[in-house]
Amino acid sequence: MSFEPNNVLITGGAGFIGANFVRHWLATTQQGKVVVLDALTYAGNIDNLKGLESDPRYAFVHGDICDEAAVKRLMETHRIDTIAHFAAESHVDRSILGPDDFIRTNIVGTHSLLKAAKALWLDKKPVATHRFHHVSTDEVYGSLGPDDEPFHEETPYAPNSPYSATKASSDHLVRAYHETYGLNTTVTNCSNNYGPYQFPEKLIPLIIINILHGKPLPVYGDGLQVRDWLHVADHCQAIALAITDGKAGEVYNVGGNSETTNITIVKTLCDLVDEQLSQRPDLAKAFPSSPAVSGRKAMDLITHVRDRLGHDRRYAINYAKAARELGYAPGRDFATGIRATLEWYLSDQAWWQALLGRDYAAWVKKNYAA
Ligand code: NAD
Ligand code: TYD
Repeated sequence: MSFEPNNVLITGGAGFIGANFVRHWLATTQQGKVVVLDALTYAGNIDNLKGLESDPRYAFVHGDICDEAAVKRLMETHRIDTIAHFAAESHVDRSILGPDDFIRTNIVGTHSLLKAAKALWLDKKPVATHRFHHVSTDEVYGSLGPDDEPFHEETPYAPNSPYSATKASSDHLVRAYHETYGLNTTVTNCSNNYGPYQFPEKLIPLIIINILHGKPLPVYGDGLQVRDWLHVADHCQAIALAITDGKAGEVYNVGGNSETTNITIVKTLCDLVDEQLSQRPDLAKAFPSSPAVSGRKAMDLITHVRDRLGHDRRYAINYAKAARELGYAPGRDFATGIRATLEWYLSDQAWWQALLGRDYAAWVKKNYAA
């Protein structure tokens, strides 16, 4: 039996995946409100939602998921029946430098949302029709060897970073609220996303922007770590399907069918950016320090730096359950998706230039420390 969401609260909707999901949901549904709750941390960016202000179905609320009373008020005001929970501290490197914000938002914040949902949906009679969807990661399963079977929904949890430990903890809380109180939850655990609006501290946008500026391309360790790259539009489709067609209490793994090493990604981007700069005089003029402008190769910028502490070697996803039960299939292969993503970063330069201006000192410190 499928669930028909009406008014949806999207936490973290000003972040990378959340903003893509807000746009996806507004474009693919006809009714109900979309209320974004976002604390606008360094990773949150109101520009990610630009153009939606005039949509009568959309509202933005600046606030913290840890503020349970405010969440309850918001849910009552907008008669929320569905939560799509994206808000999180999401960058592994930052979690290694300082886990506290991760504990607060990812664990305490998720629990605050669960308590608000229980109070409004379960504790008042009659029990409301509702859905709590939690967006999680494949990193909760730990690291695979080269010949290991991909992660599936029964793979034991073995988180290795403070980030993945907090996501694992939030997954357990969501499960407990289903098992103990009967909250109608669904969870998706997905692989590495890429696409428009990704904050430029993550691998793909960081490499594109560094090539454009002729800066070193930091590759952690030998660069042979493997991730299964998932286009954010495919991820949004899977989340929407889990909300409407997923069974309460179930977990669905979402992958992109695109296992690739980091060094391959970096080299692919080097070739693609070189190609664009040699074909487009406007880009060559805007980015004179990019190697292709002076006949050199972006690959020369590749710099192997100290490896990430506790760096997971390989992630891979078996998404057979989502395919079977939700009809999910990734629609974009990596070769097409990475070209489209590069094109987005090249055509929307103002978006990332503004971010570099805002957090530039921290960004430089992180990227150029060997
Ligand atoms: P992001 O860092 O780009 O965005 C996170 C958003 O949450 C930001 O807008 C931020 O302002 C907001 N936020 C942070 N703390 C908050 C708080 N206390 N209250 C309200 N809002 C707060 O993250 P993302 O890459 O879009 O990831 C979204 C979700 O998907 C996260 O839960 C993440 O764990 C999960 N995920 C991401 C990936 C990936 O590849 N990016 C892969 C698997 C799972
Ligand atoms: P990242 O985009 O941070 O995502 P995650 O840690 O969630 O997988 O990193 C993706 C991979 O790229 C990861 O194996 C770490 C590696 N990496 C680099 O080699 N250099 C970099 O500068 C960054 C940011 C990541």
